[in-house]
Amino acid sequence: MIQFPKDFVWGSATSSYQIEGGATADGRAWSIWDAHAHTPGRTNNNENGDIACDHYHRYKEDVALMAKMGLKAYRFSISWSRIQPDGQGNVNPKGIQFYSDLIDELIANNITPWVTLYHWDLPLALQTEKDGWLNPEIANYFEAYAEICYKNFGDRVKNWITLNESWVVAILGYGEGIFAPGRKSKDEPYKVGHQLLRAHGKAVQLYRNKYQQKQKGQIGITNNGDWREPLTDSKEDIDAAQRSLEFFLGWFADPIYFGDYPKVMRDRVGDRLPKFTDEDRALIKGSSDFFGLNHYTCSYASNVDPNAPISNQVYGNGGIFEDQYVALSSDPKWKLTAMKWAIVPWGCRKLLEWISDRYGNPPIYITENGCALDDVVENGKVTDTLRKEYYESYLAACSKAIDKGVNLQGYFAWSFMDNFEWALGYSKRFGMHYVDYDTLERTPKNSALWLSKAIQDNGFDFSQNDVEI
Ligand code: GAL
Repeated sequence: MIQFPKDFVWGSATSSYQIEGGATADGRAWSIWDAHAHTPGRTNNNENGDIACDHYHRYKEDVALMAKMGLKAYRFSISWSRIQPDGQGNVNPKGIQFYSDLIDELIANNITPWVTLYHWDLPLALQTEKDGWLNPEIANYFEAYAEICYKNFGDRVKNWITLNESWVVAILGYGEGIFAPGRKSKDEPYKVGHQLLRAHGKAVQLYRNKYQQKQKGQIGITNNGDWREPLTDSKEDIDAAQRSLEFFLGWFADPIYFGDYPKVMRDRVGDRLPKFTDEDRALIKGSSDFFGLNHYTCSYASNVDPNAPISNQVYGNGGIFEDQYVALSSDPKWKLTAMKWAIVPWGCRKLLEWISDRYGNPPIYITENGCALDDVVENGKVTDTLRKEYYESYLAACSKAIDKGVNLQGYFAWSFMDNFEWALGYSKRFGMHYVDYDTLERTPKNSALWLSKAIQDNGFDFSQNDVEI
């Protein structure tokens, strides 16, 4: 039997644009994701989050399902343009009311709220009027918005996450252009990443100076990282894997723990990588009370000779290829999810150990981990065996990391229910609850029943002895 530490945080996660719907209800204004999804050709079947899971109107039913599972914590995000339709200035009281009611409902059901302030849905007005995350001023608007949240919810919310996955905002939003705001550039991702870090730093500084002592909460940031395993034992491939991790996770974690970008990034990106002023460095260094990690998969990494012609065959570069010269590949034996992401639980353990070693054993929360499958409802049931195995094996790998001294304090399954999977629309189901998008009915999948039992027992019998963790 695998047992987790007493007080281990068992949670599940969602985000505002992916589940809420009510896109223009009660004074909410559009975000960049509303605009992106309403632009023909940007999402699967031109789907959007206008209705999504209609959580805005059904949050009580959803909290009841969470309570039924025995979830100890629920991570959700606040839609900035529901609180401040223009992204600055006027506050929308009905937006405040919605989140206040949701928080009360969670607490009444003994579920601890974990609140993300920004999960990619920038108020559209800040994009059209102010150039979004390219503009250094956005950090000030973000700080002001964060303050509204601390003031209104901080009496009850004790766990804050400033930003979700800055890497995705920078690379998919401003590098590859497949996510909002849909820009394609080789320079903007680094500029945007820099402003995201500044915005995070300002929001944390404000919380610490004005609210933390009284409200007694913790605040941090969530970054995404997948594991990179060297393809061979050669020094070149070992270095390539390390370089890839630093370009991915180190990009946003090194400034927070060490006060600057990884050296390999500074050397390779040169003047295209912004420099921290002393003031910004002081703001950002030490600005996270915990290490929030979203983790899904693993790849092999190998070195690519910079003099060789760039091949179109180079699979997945995990960032701007010419800055890294790393090729990513996969083992054909690895099982895949519906996203074609490989299921490699030992990659999770190795990444946790890497974080622990590199950043001085910080408290870590896995704020997302999960698996998309082509689920079907049969006789009122969803037999999502592979998802259950995914959670089970990744949690077993987490437990092994804890045994090795990693300070992992909690785990949030992505996701509580099926939802709008960004550019892929409703085609990918990540939920522990199946959502019928015609009727909006929710059905607990077998994985929800399994996790519920694991939560109750604070552990489980690991049934997959042949699986490497
Ligand atoms: C994360 C993201 C979530 C969810 C998940 C699955 O990157 O934070 O919003 O979409 O991936 O793709």
